[in-house]
Amino acid sequence: MDNKNDMNVQVDSTPTFPLIGRPAPKFTANTTHGEINFPDDYKGKWVILFSHPADFTPVCTTEFMTFASMHEEFRALNTELVGLSIDSVHAHLGWVTAIKNYSWNGIENPEVKFPVIDDVKMEVANKYGMLQGESDTAAVRAVFFVDPDGMMRTILYYPASLGRNFNEIKRIIIGLQKSDAEGVALPANWHPGKDVIVPPPSTTDDIKKRLEEVKGKEEYNQLDWYLTFKKDQ
Ligand code: BEZ
Repeated sequence: MDNKNDMNVQVDSTPTFPLIGRPAPKFTANTTHGEINFPDDYKGKWVILFSHPADFTPVCTTEFMTFASMHEEFRALNTELVGLSIDSVHAHLGWVTAIKNYSWNGIENPEVKFPVIDDVKMEVANKYGMLQGESDTAAVRAVFFVDPDGMMRTILYYPASLGRNFNEIKRIIIGLQKSDAEGVALPANWHPGKDVIVPPPSTTDDIKKRLEEVKGKEEYNQLDWYLTFKKDQ
């Protein structure tokens, strides 16, 4: 039941929100692939946990088709996908079976090979802040990026009416992996191949050292003492 106009609706569980930079909240859940322990089952891999408002709905169907079509691209980035909605495994299975018959946007007969969580009790939805102001019973479009150590690294929340940008979802994984591997930060609208940012110096000595380090070198572009770009390797 939607509560837009009813402020007296009682919800029996207080929502909480995961935090970037903290461990991803743990849970055990039943899925279309059996039970999972999150995030422990995904140690050593990146994982994208995402929610959608409901099975058998239009925007969600386009998103599932897109996730299914990109599954191998994510796997190539050591990244697994886990879906969730406040629906049963039975409903999920019916929906993903139906999706196999569809073709849209160059995606033909997609097979959903990742697990989809049954969250009819809304336990995960409440733990992950997936139930927000639009509905008491349908999750928003949330995306949680969890690293191989089980830490929450990025969180996106979209409303029901707006399908997600999958180029951005992939860019986030690539960007987080690059930042971790090279100890660099990434500027606005960064994408692979573009200049990265060298962490700023933190002492006056380091400022001088940085100036020496970059002087006359083509791979660096220093706008100011605290903002140095470096060509992508
Ligand atoms: C959709 O996926 O189309 C949708 C789902 C819930 C509310 C609105 C739209």
